[in-house]
Amino acid sequence: MNNTFRIGVLGSGKGSNFVAIADAVIAGQIPAEIAVVLSDVEAAGILAHARDRKIPAQFVPPGKFRTKLDEEAERAFVAALQQAQIDLVVLAGFMRVLKGDFLRAFEGRIVNIHPSLLPSFPGLEAWKQALDHGVKVTGCTVHFVDAGVDAGAIIGQQTVPVLDNDTPENLHQRIHAAEHDLYPKCVAALARREISVAGRRVLWKKA
Ligand code: GRF
Repeated sequence: MNNTFRIGVLGSGKGSNFVAIADAVIAGQIPAEIAVVLSDVEAAGILAHARDRKIPAQFVPPGKFRTKLDEEAERAFVAALQQAQIDLVVLAGFMRVLKGDFLRAFEGRIVNIHPSLLPSFPGLEAWKQALDHGVKVTGCTVHFVDAGVDAGAIIGQQTVPVLDNDTPENLHQRIHAAEHDLYPKCVAALARREISVAGRRVLWKKA
């Protein structure tokens, strides 16, 4: 029990990536336990999905800012994750930028998924940025989180073709489907401690 790899998930939205990861844990594909799910949005679907699965789920008020946590909120998030003794923080649609004290508390142990092939199209509505730019291939990226926005070392990527008749909505939908495939695989490799980092390069040890 004590050496079970413990995951804390943060999300602000519907939580479909959380569901993909939680289902992979239940199916035995990720050797880990999801110890806690936290959200800055009280009505977020991710909290309901966690409670459906009997996973501790908590709304933590984010404070006075719109795109980051205020100091008190940051302390509350860090405390809840430390109390749950988590080994890895998984961001799954968490819509706030994490800053200094949070990053220091979990240095090298925070991962995120972004809906483009980084470093192309960081920031909001990356699928729309890709469509507007006219790229023929986009996708999704799982990466470590550092002080930059969508800038940390890349763990895994999956491509999605852009089709001539794509709308932002259906391209986003196909990227989402790719995310549900990629994110559990990356989290599983992290839980198995098969991932090592050399500068910006993330290496996957063969199982
Ligand atoms: C995903 O598209 C992810 O790339 C982005 O936020 C979205 C979260 O979706 N970071 P969901 O809440 O997991 O459905």
